[in-house]
Amino acid sequence: MGEALPAIPAHPLPVAVRAPGKCIVFGEHAVVHGAPELLFALDLETQVYVAPGAVTRLNGDAEARTRNRYFAQALDSLWAGGGPIEVRALSRIPRAAGLGSSAAFVAALAAGLGAATGGIDRPTLAERSFQIERGAQGVGSPGDTAAVIGGGFLAVNGGSGDPLWTVRDGDRRWEVRRVEDPGWLWVVAHSGIPRSTADAVRAVGQRLSRPDGPALLAEFRRVAEEGIDAVGSGDRARVAELMTRNQELLREVGVSHPRLEALIEAAGPAAQAAKLTGAGAGGSIVALPKPGEETDLVRRLARAGGLPFVVRAAPSGVSLANEAPAG
Ligand code: PMV
Repeated sequence: MGEALPAIPAHPLPVAVRAPGKCIVFGEHAVVHGAPELLFALDLETQVYVAPGAVTRLNGDAEARTRNRYFAQALDSLWAGGGPIEVRALSRIPRAAGLGSSAAFVAALAAGLGAATGGIDRPTLAERSFQIERGAQGVGSPGDTAAVIGGGFLAVNGGSGDPLWTVRDGDRRWEVRRVEDPGWLWVVAHSGIPRSTADAVRAVGQRLSRPDGPALLAEFRRVAEEGIDAVGSGDRARVAELMTRNQELLREVGVSHPRLEALIEAAGPAAQAAKLTGAGAGGSIVALPKPGEETDLVRRLARAGGLPFVVRAAPSGVSLANEAPAG
C-alpha cells in the first residue's frame, strides 16, 4: 500500500482549480466521535479561479471576507500577508445539501493558494483544509475535505493497510485509507431542505451522551466497519443491508427528516437501499440503484420532489485545471 498521491505543484497566479464533492455512504456523525466512515469523491465539480486583483473579492463581493467564514478562514490560514486576490467559484454541487459544496470550495481555494505559495502536498492540504472548515463550522471531522482531496473511495478511521495520511486535532486523530472503488453508479437526491451541519452535529453529540450513547456508537462503528469491507469486496447485497441499518441508527439519533424519509420511501422499488447522506436534518439521500434501474430511480425521486443526480466516484481529488471557469 502506501499509495503516494501527487502534490499540488507550484503555480503562479492566476490559477484555476477543480474539486469534486463528496458522498458519505457509512458513518456520518459517528465519525466525529472517532468511529469509521466510508465516503467517496462525488463527480459533481466545483471550480475555483484565483487571480491577483485590486481588492480581495469572492464572486465580485468585496465584503465576502466578513460574510463567508470559509473564505475568511482560508485567507487567514494560507494567504496571510498575500496581496489582494480576485476569487471566482462555480459549482455544480447544490449548497448546504450534504454533498460537500463547502469542502470542495475550501479544498479548491486552499489548493490554489498553496500552488501560488510554492506548492502543497496532499497530507498538508488535508490538514489545512480541515482546520479551515473546522474554524468556519466550529465542529466536525476531516472526512469531507479528505474525500475532496483524496478522490475515489476513502475510509476514515477504518479499512486496512497504510494510511494515506493522518489528521490530528488535539488528542484526536483520524487516519485516512484508500478503499477500492467497486465501480457502481449511485443516485443522490437533494431534498431542498436547508440545514446547519453544526447544529446537527451538536444535537447528535448530546444524544450520544445519554446512557445508551456508547451502545449506539458501537453499532454505528460495526455497521461502518462491515460496510467498508463490503464495498471493498464489491458485495452489493451486504452494502444495501448495512445502508438500511445505518439509516435506522441515524433516525435513532434524530437526524432524519420527513422529506428524507419520503425520498427514501420513493426510492424503494428501484433501489437496493437508500439512506440520508451527510449531516441530515434536511440535505440529501444516497441510494444504491437496482442495476439497470437508475433512470427509473431518478424519475421516482424527482416525482417525490427531490433533485436527483446519477453519480459515480470521481477517481481524482482536487487538482489544478488548465483553464479559468467561464462566466
Ligand atoms: O454537512 P455535511 O453534510 O457535509 O456532513 C458532514 C458529516 C458529519 O459527519 C455530520 C460531520 C463531519 O464533519 O464529519
